[in-house]
Amino acid sequence: MKSTEIKQNRLYDEFAHLWTLVSNPADYAEEAANCRRVLRDKLGEGRHEILELGVGGGNNLSHLTADFKATAVDISEKMLANSRKLNPEVEHFVGDMRTVRLGRTFKAVLIQDAINYMQTEDDLRAAFATAREHLRPGGVLVTSPDYFLETFEDGVVRHRKQSEEKIELTYIEYDYDLDLADSKFEAIAFYLIREKGQLRVELDRHVLGLFALKTWLELMEEAGFVVEKYDCDVSDVRRQSFLLVGVKK
Ligand SMILES: C[S@@+](CC[C@H](N)C(=O)[O-])C[C@H]1O[C@@H](n2cnc3c(N)ncnc32)[C@H](O)[C@@H]1O
Repeated sequence: MKSTEIKQNRLYDEFAHLWTLVSNPADYAEEAANCRRVLRDKLGEGRHEILELGVGGGNNLSHLTADFKATAVDISEKMLANSRKLNPEVEHFVGDMRTVRLGRTFKAVLIQDAINYMQTEDDLRAAFATAREHLRPGGVLVTSPDYFLETFEDGVVRHRKQSEEKIELTYIEYDYDLDLADSKFEAIAFYLIREKGQLRVELDRHVLGLFALKTWLELMEEAGFVVEKYDCDVSDVRRQSFLLVGVKK
């Protein structure tokens, strides 16, 4: 089977019920703490209104709802259902971060790892325009891509095994890039699902953006933000040691 024949983003659709076995709130604790630090630094004290675009299962957001009044958007209704369970106090909307318009503004917009799904510079422009549209003057965009052209590791394999009640998932991910000249790469995921005495093996494919740091900074500037590379401590090698922060001009 050619990789291009593998269906995309099944994790956010038919396998969204496996999300809690792929990822946990604890995985996001450190990054959420860094994000909270940026928000406090830029906005000061207070229960500010924030919007997360591409909230996914709401793991990241679950660390911020005690301090901020949050609203959330994701393109997948099934992933929103996961986030609603974890963050019942948050208002959730289905929408594409490139086009959604809620008709409201916030003090901050977060686009955490979901920004990885922007595959072209035009996708990034559209996502940053959405963020700007939902911010009050002086409002803050915080984004944290996992991948940069300069540090991309071709052929990396990650894996994890977790179980919950009567289901065990072994998750294996292989990241690769056949063409460094385009602005994307692929992650192939294998799901080994052990349930009711059976082992089911499923494949998934995620197409993700790969841009130079300079491109990220330039496109945020172009979208109308004063941009800063905000250094922070991280212990997970996959996570970057900085967040990209833009203050709306
Ligand atoms: C890795 S998950 C995010 C996990 C999330 N950070 C958490 O803490 O649970 C990526 C999410 O991005 C969403 N996504 C991908 N493309 C999107 C788009 N164009 N607009 C909005 N959400 C998108 C997917 O549906 C998925 O829920």
